[in-house]
Amino acid sequence: MKVQGSIVFITGANRGLGLAFARQARALGAAKVYAGMRKVEGFDESGLIPVQIDVTDPQSVAAAVLQAADVTLLVNNAGIGGSVRDALDDHVEEVSRAVFEVNYHGVVRVSQSFAPILARSEEAGIINILSNASWLPVPFLTPYGVSKAAAWSYTNHLRLALKQQGTRVVALHVGYVDTDLTAGLNLPKSNPDDVARIGFVGLEEGRLEVLVDEKGQRLKHSLSSNLPGYVEPDPYY
Ligand SMILES: NC(=O)c1ccc[n+]([C@@H]2O[C@H](COP(=O)([O-])OP(=O)(O)OC[C@H]3O[C@@H](n4cnc5c(N)ncnc54)[C@H](OP(=O)(O)O)[C@@H]3O)[C@@H](O)[C@H]2O)c1
Repeated sequence: MKVQGSIVFITGANRGLGLAFARQARALGAAKVYAGMRKVEGFDESGLIPVQIDVTDPQSVAAAVLQAADVTLLVNNAGIGGSVRDALDDHVEEVSRAVFEVNYHGVVRVSQSFAPILARSEEAGIINILSNASWLPVPFLTPYGVSKAAAWSYTNHLRLALKQQGTRVVALHVGYVDTDLTAGLNLPKSNPDDVARIGFVGLEEGRLEVLVDEKGQRLKHSLSSNLPGYVEPDPYY
């Protein structure tokens, strides 16, 4: 599927990786780019159409679908962090509920709501923004990592469910990216524009799974080894 000529909807597109995807879609010649965001007031960027959407709110999602009823490419990008001490932190359950509502249930809700619209198009696709954290236990990211693992599994189930209607589903696995989400982390990070470009190239090349960085590629590779990255987390990963 080509981004050129497509009609793109991106959740969480007011900043961070979502905004990078929106700008990249425009640069690649998308016919229309809907920038989904919780607060549209004050957002004004030429070529991007702001649409109110809170992925945790079914009414807001339904209204966004009505407003963007011609979408051919959906990018499920909206996501939140939520840190804890580790898997034994008393707040894991509470934080997980909040994180799951966006990172997992949000993806389900938005994908299901746009699916009938995507079915109308001969060429249609969904890109789900996932994380290397699905495969790598990082103690303070426990709820986040678990939510992304759930979203990864849902992505694979969704791909099957949408196969018959011809909608391609791409899993984009991403390591640390330089956005507000990682502002406090002093680690090597990818540039959001590069991640968006790699995601769209993957879609255009017909890939169903895209591993953005080397770390993610090593991690995925390790899954079938005797000591997978998730069993003995190593800084190497
Ligand atoms: N940054 C990384 O290192 C990294 C690594 C792997 C994967 N990812 C994934 O990449 C995606 C984008 O993250 P980011 O780094 O760009 O984070 P970010 O800079 O914190 O941006 C998050 C975006 O999600 C939106 N959002 C949050 N809750 C929402 C909701 N309920 N409904 C709609 N939009 C909502 C935010 O909107 P507001 O402005 O209204 O808060 C914002 O636009 C996420 O799925 C994240 O898990 C990021």
